[in-house]
Formats: sequence, C-alpha cells, structure tokens
Amino acid sequence: MHFSDVLKSRVSTRAFDSRPIPDGAVKSLIDAALYAPVGMHRFETLHLTVIRNPYVLEHIRTLAVKATGDEKADPLHGAPVLIVVSTSLGGEIGALNVSCLVENMLLAATDMGLANLYVRGIIADAAKDADFLALSGIPEGFTPVASVAAGYALAPIAPRETPKNNMTTINYVD
Ligand SMILES: Cc1cc2nc3c(=O)[nH]c(=O)nc-3n(C[C@H](O)[C@H](O)[C@H](O)COP(=O)(O)O)c2cc1C
Repeated sequence: MHFSDVLKSRVSTRAFDSRPIPDGAVKSLIDAALYAPVGMHRFETLHLTVIRNPYVLEHIRTLAVKATGDEKADPLHGAPVLIVVSTSLGGEIGALNVSCLVENMLLAATDMGLANLYVRGIIADAAKDADFLALSGIPEGFTPVASVAAGYALAPIAPRETPKNNMTTINYVD
C-alpha cells in the first residue's frame, strides 16, 4: 500500500474474529514498533509483550468486567493478539515513547490488511493488577502503558467517517 493510503485507511476496529494472525505478521508489527522514534535513544526503557494466550486475554477482559460491572465488557473486542508496550520511564516521556511504538504498529497492521485498535484504558487497570503482571511476564521496573489489538475484522472494515480530521485546529506562524 502507498504510505498515504495507509494513513487514510487506518481506522479503529472493535469487532475481531478469533482467528489468529500469522507469526510473520506479529513479527512485522514488532519490527514496525522497533523503528519508532524514541526520546534520547532510550530504547532499553521500552518492553513489548505479545499476548496470544486466551487465558491471559480473558483475564484482561475480566478486569473490564470488574471495573464496569458489565458482564459483557470486552475492551479487546475478541482480538486474538494484544501487543502491550511498557516503559521503565515515569512521566510524560515514557508515555510519549510508548505512543510512537503503538502508532507504528497500527500503521503496519493497516498496511498488512489487519484490523487494529489502540487500547489504553484497560491497560491502565492491568498495570495495577498483580495477576496480570505475573501472567504477562512484564519485567520488574516496567509499567504497561498502552497496547495494540490486532486481528481480522469480523465485518469488512468501514472507512473513516470523515476523509480527514477537520476538527483539529491549526495555526501557522510564518
Ligand atoms: C491515546 C489513545 C488511547 C486510546 N485508547 C483506546 C481504548 O482504550 N479503547 C478503544 O477502544 N480505543 C482507544 N483509542 C482509539 C480512539 O478512540 C480512536 O483512535 C479515535 O476514536 C479515532 O478513531 P479512528 O482510530 O477510527 O480514526 C485510543 C486512541 C489513542 C490515541
């Protein structure tokens, strides 16, 4: 896909097929993440966790059930893989770095025709859950901040509602 088409076609998917994605696709997502810019080259402050284990994915779902009281809550929307990005840096810089890796993965997934979603909300809960931290094997000293859910869309992916964001304001200082 042309890069401009990738940009235009990336869209959040919230209904995934349970079908797994090929290992090669997971590797491509990780490669994309590793090409992201990282403040002051502090690549060692980032950690990626590829979660495909259904039990662990279900554990994340149960955190959402607990948080919302909704038995049907499913923040991962049935995605078969979740790539969690953790950082050992506190504050803004850690989160900024994480977001660069996440966006690279969203775009790479789009380029491969995979449905994808930026998942942050439930990761904040998971970061405080001792069972999740143990199950995920995230190294000591790293905090999970955000993640990418990827897979195949249950229904054909609808294009974004607006051709481009026309709400963000811009000012030019020439
Ligand atoms: C920092 C950040 C956090 C997000 N967290 C979530 C999330 O936890 N769950 C979710 O369903 N979508 C999440 N999103 C996706 C946004 O809701 C989505 O990108 C936005 O509505 C624009 O829609 P689009 O991705 O289809 O263009 C997040 C996006 C960003 C950038």
